[in-house]
Amino acid sequence: MDHLQTQGIRLPRLGLGTFRMQGDACRAAVESALSLGYRHIDTAEMYANEEAIGAAIASSGVPRDELHLTTKVWNENLAPAAIRRAFDASLKKLRLDFVDLYLVHWPSPTMNLPAVFETLMKLKEKGRTRAIGVANFTLELLKTTVEEIRAPIACNQIEYHVMLDQSKVKRYLDAKSIPLVAYCPLAQGRAADDETLIAIGRKHNASAAQVALKWLLDQNGVAAIPKASRAESQKANLDALRVRLDDDDRKAIAALPKSKRFVNPGFAPAWD
Ligand SMILES: NC(=O)c1ccc[n+]([C@@H]2O[C@H](COP(=O)([O-])OP(=O)(O)OC[C@H]3O[C@@H](n4cnc5c(N)ncnc54)[C@H](OP(=O)(O)O)[C@@H]3O)[C@@H](O)[C@H]2O)c1
Repeated sequence: MDHLQTQGIRLPRLGLGTFRMQGDACRAAVESALSLGYRHIDTAEMYANEEAIGAAIASSGVPRDELHLTTKVWNENLAPAAIRRAFDASLKKLRLDFVDLYLVHWPSPTMNLPAVFETLMKLKEKGRTRAIGVANFTLELLKTTVEEIRAPIACNQIEYHVMLDQSKVKRYLDAKSIPLVAYCPLAQGRAADDETLIAIGRKHNASAAQVALKWLLDQNGVAAIPKASRAESQKANLDALRVRLDDDDRKAIAALPKSKRFVNPGFAPAWD
């Protein structure tokens, strides 16, 4: 599996998303993914599935140093003491001594950004998380984080797929050598039904979902975390790495409308 080097960690470019999977179903999906060769699992305290993921990791027999685990602190817990409590709870549920990447899940209008990163940095310095990062940070927040606070963020995890333009944020991340981790890389499954992608897939003996995924993974500095509960989809997503898109395919994908954002909770900051 291809990796991205960032802030001292090696981030496998394809990971398993786990939002909306819980309990035994989540445990089974993560066990299946690990047995297929996935080594990057994405979770969050908000997903309420860290216990199931901890159980799956424990039973998998995958050596800890081969696994990349990301979890996130929810936006209601961004005061320093709350971050520490949330982190301890996540680690305990995951049955781990450390995580690989700890992210601010969503910015909050009331957060004290320097205090947030000071707290995250202490967790990193103690070796409890190997790296820290952010999710859903706008360009403006990224600039504050990188240029004023100088926090060593290992990624910005944002919605990114064939139907959504993220070129402005991506240009900034590229300039600072910060990976973009694409969430909803399949546009929450919608990519599988897109006629343009189906036609491209037909050319390459691939599915539309595989085309959508490979379009992301062909871009420098991009990782993707598709959620797939079924083993066949998990395998198909791994196999997407072998699809070879050509310039005509990329032109057709570039021409798709790119204004479709599917994740936008009420408290989200303005994106543009
Ligand atoms: N940081 C954030 O704020 C944030 C927000 C949203 C999501 N995320 C992360 O990103 C992950 C992915 O996003 P998402 O789950 O919302 O959407 P997604 O990965 O774009 O799409 C998931 C959907 O695609 C289907 N699917 C997966 N592989 C497929 C394939 N090969 N062919 C056809 N369909 C396929 C899945 O079906 P089955 O499950 O039935 O297999 C599921 O319905 C989340 O699970 C979470 O870890 C982070």
